[in-house]
Amino acid sequence: MHAVSSLLLLGGLVVQSVFGWPPSEHARHSGEILKRSVDSFVATESPIALRSLLCNIGAGGCHASGASPGVVIASPSKSNPDYFYTWTRDAALVFKCIVDTFSNEYSADLQTHIQEYIASQAKLQGVSNPSGSLSDGSGLGEPKFNVDLTQFTGAWGRPQRDGPALRAIALINYAKWLVANGYTSTASNIVWPIIKNDLAYVAQYWNQTGFDLWEEVQGSSFFTVASQHRSLVEGKALAKSLGTSCDFCDAIAPQVLCFLQRFWSPSSGYIIANINTSGRSGKDANTILGSIHTFDPAVGCDANTFQPCSDRALANHKVVTDSFRSIYSVNSGIPQGSAVAVGRYPEDSYYNGNPWYLNTLAAAEQLYDALIVWKNQGSITITDTSLPFFKDLVSSASTGTYTSGSTTYTTLYNAVNAYADGYVNVVAKYIQSNGSLAEQYDRSSGAPLSAADLTWSYAAFLTATARRAGIVPSSWNAVSGNTLPNSCYATSVQGTYSSATSTNFPSSQTPQTGIQSSTTSLPPTSVTTTTSTTTTGGCTTATSVAVTFNELVTTTWGQTIKIVGNIDALGNWDTGKAVALSASGYTSTNPVWTATIKLPAGQTIQYKYINVQTDGSVRWEADPNHTYSVPVTCATAVTKSDKWQA
Ligand SMILES: *[C@@H]1O[C@H](CO)[C@@H](O)[C@H](O)[C@H]1NC(C)=O
Ligand SMILES: *[C@@H]1O[C@H](CO)[C@@H](O)[C@H](O)[C@H]1NC(C)=O
Ligand SMILES: *[C@@H]1O[C@H](CO)[C@@H](O)[C@H](O)[C@H]1NC(C)=O
Ligand SMILES: *[C@@H]1O[C@H](CO)[C@@H](O)[C@H](O)[C@H]1NC(C)=O
Repeated sequence: MHAVSSLLLLGGLVVQSVFGWPPSEHARHSGEILKRSVDSFVATESPIALRSLLCNIGAGGCHASGASPGVVIASPSKSNPDYFYTWTRDAALVFKCIVDTFSNEYSADLQTHIQEYIASQAKLQGVSNPSGSLSDGSGLGEPKFNVDLTQFTGAWGRPQRDGPALRAIALINYAKWLVANGYTSTASNIVWPIIKNDLAYVAQYWNQTGFDLWEEVQGSSFFTVASQHRSLVEGKALAKSLGTSCDFCDAIAPQVLCFLQRFWSPSSGYIIANINTSGRSGKDANTILGSIHTFDPAVGCDANTFQPCSDRALANHKVVTDSFRSIYSVNSGIPQGSAVAVGRYPEDSYYNGNPWYLNTLAAAEQLYDALIVWKNQGSITITDTSLPFFKDLVSSASTGTYTSGSTTYTTLYNAVNAYADGYVNVVAKYIQSNGSLAEQYDRSSGAPLSAADLTWSYAAFLTATARRAGIVPSSWNAVSGNTLPNSCYATSVQGTYSSATSTNFPSSQTPQTGIQSSTTSLPPTSVTTTTSTTTTGGCTTATSVAVTFNELVTTTWGQTIKIVGNIDALGNWDTGKAVALSASGYTSTNPVWTATIKLPAGQTIQYKYINVQTDGSVRWEADPNHTYSVPVTCATAVTKSDKWQA
C-alpha cells in the first residue's frame, strides 16, 4: 500500500498540471483564482464522473459485467476490499442523483437506466435474505445483495433501515416526473407499489435500532432517521397526487421528526450522529449527509428538519469538519476557515481512518445548498448557534439578519462560497490523475485508497457540483411536514406488503411540454412556524383528525374489544360508555380490531382496550395506560396501532 502511495501521489501532482489549477496555497488567498480553478476542475471532471458512474451499473456498464440490468455495484473492486455487491443505500443515492440529473435535462439513456433500476428493485424486494422476507417487511432492511439479485448470506451488520427510505425517495422522484409529464398511470401502476412497500417498512420499523450507514454501530442513526422522515412526508404528497393516500405516512411522519430532534445536542452545539452507541464523540459526516439528502429549498433554513442553512446544521458543519483538522497530516497548516479533507468520524480506524471523497464533497454541498436558499430568500441570518461557524470565515461576524443589499451579506455570501469551493479544491488536489474517484485518500500522503471507482463518490461529485451550478432538487414538501407534535411517542404501524409484479414500462414516455414544471426553477420560499394554524405550502393544518385505532388481540367468538379513556369521546373511563371496535378485518394471522374516532388535533389522551364477554363482564388489558397525542399536521386521518397488553 505504501509503496503504491508515493507513486500515486506523483499522479496527484500530475493532475494539477494537466488540469491546470494552482496550488491551494495561492488559491486560499484569492476567491477569484480559486473559483476559476474549481470551475476548470468541475468542467473536466463532470463528464468523467457521469461516465464512470454509469460504468458501475448493470448490465451494460463497462465495470459491471455480471450485474443484472439496473443493478448498481458499489465499486468494481473485487478484493481489498471486495465491494462487488449491490447495496440498497448506495444504489438509491446513486439513482437519486440520476433521477435529479434526468429531471433537470431529459435523457432517453438515463430513463432506460431508471426503468431498469426500478424493475430490479421490484424483484429485489421479494428476495428472502438473512434479514427476513417481504411477507412482514423485514427482508427490506437487508443492506447488501449479490449483483445477480440473489441474497448475500455472509455475516454482516444487518438490518440497515435507511435503505428502504432512500429507495422510496429515489423512486418517488421519478414518479413525480411521470406525473408532471402526464404519465400518472405508470407512476400508479408500476412505481407506487414498490414505493408503498418501502414506506410501509419505514412506518413499521423506524422505531427499532439498526446499523448505521457505515455499517459499524447498532443504534439509532441521524442519517437514517432524517431519510425516513423525508420518505414518509414525500410519500404522503405523492400518494395524494396519485389520487390515493398513505395513512401510515400521515400517522408516523410527525413522530419520526419528533425523534429526530433528539440527535441535536444544544449543550454540545452539534448533531450527535448515533444514539445508543458508546465510545464515540458523535461527530460524524453522517450528519452532513443527512442534511444534504433532506435539502428542501422551499422550507428555508428550517432547523426542525436540519436544513443545510439552518443554524444547527451550520454549527454542526464546523464541529464535524474541525474534528479532522488536527488528526490528518494532509490538513496540517490549513488555517481555521479554510477547507480541509473530511473523513467519516474522528475515531475511524477502517484503513487506519482517512478522508473520504464523498464526505469532503458533502461538506461543499451543504454550503452550496445554503447559498441557494440565502440567495432565494435575500438574506442571511446569524444566530448564537451559528455564530462560531461564521466567525471562522468572517472574524467580525455577529448575530443578526443581513439582507442582500448590504455589504455584510455580500461579505458573508462570498466567504461561504469560497469556503465551499475550497472543499471541491481539496478533492481536485487528491483525485487520481485520470479523474477516477476511489473511496478514500490517505490521511498522510493524500493518495487514493481503498475501493477504486466508488459509485457513490461519483454521485457525490455530481450532486455537489449541480448545487454549485445553482441546480436545485425539487421540494419534498418539507413545509407540510416540519411541525413538531407536542410529545414524542414510540408508535408504529404494522404494514402489509406485496410483491410488485408489473414492471414493463410503456415505451416513449418522453417529456410533454406544457405539463412539466422545470425542477430547476426555485419554488417560492415559505416558512412555517409551529404556532401558525395554516401553512403556506398549499396545505391546511387539520383541526380535527379521524384517528383509526388498530388493536391486535386474539379473541374468541362472542367477545368484543372496546376502547375506553379519559375523554368524553372515549367514555371518561366508564366501561358502559366504551366505544366498540369492529372485527371486520380480523383474520387468524392478523387479529385486528378497528375503530375510527374523530378527535381534536393536538389533544393528548389516555386510554385502554377492554375485552367485553357475552355476559357483559369486562377484562382490562394490563398497565400502563396508552398515551397518545393527536398529531397537528395537514393530515385529517391517522392510524394508531396497538397490541393487547397482557
Ligand atoms: C422510539 O421512539 C421513542 C419516542 O420518540 C424514543 O424515545 C425511542 O428512543 C425510540 N427508539 C428507537 C430505537 O428508535
Ligand atoms: C437503545 O436500544 C435499545 C435496544 O437495543 C432500545 O430498547 C432503546 O429504545 C434504544 N434507545 C434509544 C434512545 O434509541
Ligand atoms: C483510471 O485508471 C485506472 C487504472 O489505474 C482505471 O481502473 C480507471 O478506470 C481509470 N479511470 C478512468 C476514469 O479512466
Ligand atoms: C390509568 O388511568 C386511570 C384513570 O385516570 C388511573 O386511575 C390509573 O391509575 C392509570 N393507570 C396507570 C398505570 O397509570
